[in-house]
Amino acid sequence: MTGLLRRVGAGAPLFLVLMLGAAATLLPLTAIAPAATPAVSPERGFELLTTKPYLTPDFDDEVFERLHTCWEPEARDAAAQASPAERRKLTLARYGLTEHPDGPRATALQYTPADGGGWAMNCMACHTGKVAGQVIYGAPNTHYLLQTLTEDVRAVKFALGKKFTHMDKGSLVYPLGGSVGTTNAVMFGHILLAFRDPDLTFHADRPLPPLTHHDEDAIPFWHYKHKTRLYVDNFAPRNHRALMQFLLIPRNGPDKFNAWEDDFRNIEAWLLSLPSPKYPYAIDRKLAAHGYTLFERRCAECHGNYRAPRADGGEVAAADDERSDARGRALGYSSLLYYPERVIKLEEIGTDPVRLQAMRAEGRARYGETWFTFFGAEKVVADPGGYLAPPLDGVWASAPYFHNGSVPTLAEVLTSGDRPKLWRRSVDGYDQTRVGLEVERLAEIPPDDRSDARRKRLYFDGSLPGKSPAGHTFPDQLNAEEKRAVLEYLKTL
Ligand code: HEC
Ligand code: HEC
Repeated sequence: MTGLLRRVGAGAPLFLVLMLGAAATLLPLTAIAPAATPAVSPERGFELLTTKPYLTPDFDDEVFERLHTCWEPEARDAAAQASPAERRKLTLARYGLTEHPDGPRATALQYTPADGGGWAMNCMACHTGKVAGQVIYGAPNTHYLLQTLTEDVRAVKFALGKKFTHMDKGSLVYPLGGSVGTTNAVMFGHILLAFRDPDLTFHADRPLPPLTHHDEDAIPFWHYKHKTRLYVDNFAPRNHRALMQFLLIPRNGPDKFNAWEDDFRNIEAWLLSLPSPKYPYAIDRKLAAHGYTLFERRCAECHGNYRAPRADGGEVAAADDERSDARGRALGYSSLLYYPERVIKLEEIGTDPVRLQAMRAEGRARYGETWFTFFGAEKVVADPGGYLAPPLDGVWASAPYFHNGSVPTLAEVLTSGDRPKLWRRSVDGYDQTRVGLEVERLAEIPPDDRSDARRKRLYFDGSLPGKSPAGHTFPDQLNAEEKRAVLEYLKTL
């Protein structure tokens, strides 16, 4: 069915695509959900993520409470004089962490409590953060400052005479992330897998594969349900085992992976349940309706078909309601009706090449032989040659844009000549005109910040390797009025 849809999707008239889309979305749930065992539930998945530590804790309460001692004098003194509750707030905010919004927590949403006051990183470290000041589950955590947090943790541990962990040591050799909200996660995965047999047996004595360190923006979790393969190059089959790659620290051997498999079936159910967030500000529906027709003509062949905006601002047009409801309700609400899951060759898309080249065909093929793909039963695409055109539902909430997080707003995605080379975001500001992060554009990093590695990470410098905002020039063909209409439509997705 999917294969048929994909073939027809390329050039078929819209109504045909939509009809087939309708057939797909009306299939019984079992046909679109992952192999489900009765006990699997999103609620259990969320509970596991926030209560069961799968990694060694990176630090403990005592270290957390002293992190402010590493800050520059003004901020340090302010934190020292603040109440413990206020200091905790300042500390969480400084590193891009948030409170568990559904109740009081000993740690943060992004760190699971572990024995002895420990804080163990969980998936939400990179995959859940604030958008316009509000926590949205599954939104890339664009405030996360992993490198700075790790450096400060190490300094406090040193002062307290505490033992270093894998993060403290690893970050001395491997960069964790050079700019706020992006991490070198792809290379960590690459390194960790190099030490494993296909069945995940660990060998400390393996040589390292060639490494190209670079930073990536995480992918919104609410897109997981639309895909058959994962990552920005769409190479890895989607399954619950793929979600466990991040647990490949030496301490976790094959026994752990096998034992935790059911946990990750539940965690996958949580991912599948996440709705795409709705734009919280005003939308000009008439303009958006015009944008819809332009989008269908210029963008849908790569990004898919979405519901038409309803003039009265209601949830979905009646016809679309029928098409999207089964999937929307069962797998988290989404405006997406049909998704072609197309990879666009690097020569055509022209966005930054580093991520694609850093992973190498051998690396992808190796992954394809392991436990994560059921030893090759599920196939990888070893040489995808380009980047996936991602789904765009909830796109207003996933700024900054492109796989490297190099473009702060949707208006700038639509006009390649207007993308800032150097920018700094405000903490919680949202730019409703350009739709995306509120940023300050700069000609250069102020000298005081340039000489301070930690402050420098608050800037995004598009001239650095892996960080180019170039490419994806397709929308440049639209005139200014058409761009305004498409921008308005993107808000409705
Ligand atoms: C240190 C940051 C970080 C942590 C922690 C992290 N991820 Fe990710 N994740 C990323 C980045 C960056 C990407 C995008 C990688 C790429 O494709 O280039 C990603 C991609 C993914 C994708 C692919 C999504 C898609 O639509 O293709 C999934 C699924 C995923 N992560 C799941 C998880 C799970 C589950 C955990 C916890 C067990 C986790 N991640 C922890 C950074 C992180
Ligand atoms: C030929 C295929 C193609 C066409 C046509 C196309 N895009 Fe894209 N688009 C892509 C690819 C591939 C990416 C991912 C690029 C990357 O991350 O390096 C992308 C990324 C984007 C993103 C960023 C998404 C994110 O979350 O980072 C937006 C927004 C977007 N496109 C909007 C549009 C709009 C609007 C149009 C029509 C005017 C359009 N695109 C036309 C292929 C296409």
